[in-house]
Amino acid sequence: MKRMTRVALITSGGDCQGLNAAIRGVGKALFEKLENIEIFGMYDGYRGLIENDYKFMTSKDFSGILTEGGTILGTSRQHYIPGKDIVDDEGNSLIPAMKDTYNRLNLDCLVIMGGNGTQKSAKLLYDAGMNVVTLPKTIDNDIYGTDTTFGFQSAVDIATNVIDYIHSTASSHSRIFVVELMGRDAGWLTLNAGIASGADVILIPEIPYDLNKVAEVIEARKKKGRSFSIVACAEGAVSKDDVVLDEEARRRLKEASNYSAVSYKIAAELEAITGQETRVTVPGHYQRGGPPCPYDRVLATQFGTAAAELIVNREYGRMVAIQGGEICSIPLEEAASRTKFLPVDHPMIQVARDIGICMGD
Ligand code: F6P
Repeated sequence: MKRMTRVALITSGGDCQGLNAAIRGVGKALFEKLENIEIFGMYDGYRGLIENDYKFMTSKDFSGILTEGGTILGTSRQHYIPGKDIVDDEGNSLIPAMKDTYNRLNLDCLVIMGGNGTQKSAKLLYDAGMNVVTLPKTIDNDIYGTDTTFGFQSAVDIATNVIDYIHSTASSHSRIFVVELMGRDAGWLTLNAGIASGADVILIPEIPYDLNKVAEVIEARKKKGRSFSIVACAEGAVSKDDVVLDEEARRRLKEASNYSAVSYKIAAELEAITGQETRVTVPGHYQRGGPPCPYDRVLATQFGTAAAELIVNREYGRMVAIQGGEICSIPLEEAASRTKFLPVDHPMIQVARDIGICMGD
């Protein structure tokens, strides 16, 4: 009789497209590769591990979920103290409770699917003696050590579609439209959707903007007979004036601001400078919803099967990744070490500039 392997699956942090495809990939591959396998699905991310709240998963649970958005296991965010702990509202460490569940279920490994924050907290669990394998998921594409994450391409598709639709109404009304896209402090999503949809201006956190420069570009378009302009703006976009402020000063500025999001501030300022009617569209969480695109279905499946292979080989403390088109894995320590911002000399930024897109600088 072959040794029993016990694995728990966790989806943690903000959801994205492809989580169910990844769950399916891990589950199906484990059932294929191992004779004796028990799989547990923790409910609502780390909460399930903390509160011993899970379901025992059979092979049936992994069928029919490939195209479903969200996560069948649910997800949540925890309070993470950088590099130190995961704590409750009173500041008590939750790691011992997680370890209790891990030991009670006699687990061999946790498979944790998450974004940047999740990779960091997964490392804490690994350091606390739990075996961990992680998968990189996020629409932000900001996880270090992997060229891309599942969820990203689906969000690019949606964001592109939003801007495609905005184009016609912007043109009919000769308006400026500021479309605000997610991505936290990284510009990957906005840059890719902006190029794919033919935006005229792309504002990303990594390149602080000067609205006078943006207005000049819009005026020049008008002179050439282009009566409307589309600004794809990342939610983390920051002006040249604000970028020099420290974190506290920026927080106070945000608190005192009349605008709920950066796009509204940019729109008001652009309207004041250009005198042209300006509107805002914020697709928000729509970018994270619905079925994964085919690319993400494939990538999540590849990541899922690679995670299963790591478990078979008992290679723990690693994040599955894709580098140069090859599926691989890297030490979790490396993945959790930093955020992958968009380098300002990235060739894709040059592509945007080469076709006359204004990057706000
Ligand atoms: O990290 C994914 C993401 O969708 C970001 O793009 C966005 O800033 C954030 O999560 C939104 O978080 P929440 O779902 O908690 O509103």
